[in-house]
Amino acid sequence: SKKIVVLISGSGSNLQALIDNQLSGQLGGQIAAVISNKQQAYGLVRANNANISTHVVNHQDYSNREDYDQALSEVIDTYQPDLVVLAGFMRILTAAFVQKYVGKMLNIHPSLLPKYQGLNTHQRAIDAGDKMHGVSVHFVTEELDGGPVVCQAKIEVTDSDTAETLAQRIHAKEHIIYPKVVRWFCQQRLKMHHNQAWLDDKVLPVTGEL
Ligand code: GAR
Repeated sequence: SKKIVVLISGSGSNLQALIDNQLSGQLGGQIAAVISNKQQAYGLVRANNANISTHVVNHQDYSNREDYDQALSEVIDTYQPDLVVLAGFMRILTAAFVQKYVGKMLNIHPSLLPKYQGLNTHQRAIDAGDKMHGVSVHFVTEELDGGPVVCQAKIEVTDSDTAETLAQRIHAKEHIIYPKVVRWFCQQRLKMHHNQAWLDDKVLPVTGEL
């Protein structure tokens, strides 16, 4: 079974979805450790409750990104993971770090990429008057939120939506698609090749209801 390290910064509801899928035997892999850049991240409590090893590598203890990413990768590498999963990890990663895990690191981003890379995606979708919004899982490459998309899920935006109501509905989609993508990877069906994501012999993304 594949070894997974999950990186978080906050609530960890996506981590919880992965844990729940692991416990019901549907993940195809094992979460070996959870690492947070913030001591207060509630996801660390979720990991502890599931008897998963936790580490905090606090970015405030490092004077530059290179040193931080070096320390982070040292902790990751003690687990020799097959897959690194970014689950609400709110740090920009250096090129050297990304290169180290290229093809074996996934991120979930709350927009229909390539739309709305970066922060405040829900409010930006509302401000733009978008009728559809959504979430993307992608392989991580040096381009911020720019790696090949594996899977997207869409939601409709209504006039009464706020950033909070969108975030809530996006979360529900995230908790379905992220475990599914991680399972594909663990089954060795999902690969990155020539800067494209592949599932079996098909080029991704897969879009729509999952
Ligand atoms: C998720 O909505 C995820 O898409 C987003 O942070 C949230 C984490 O929620 N990620 C990003 O914005 C990455 N730039 P969680 O801590 O409950 O899993």
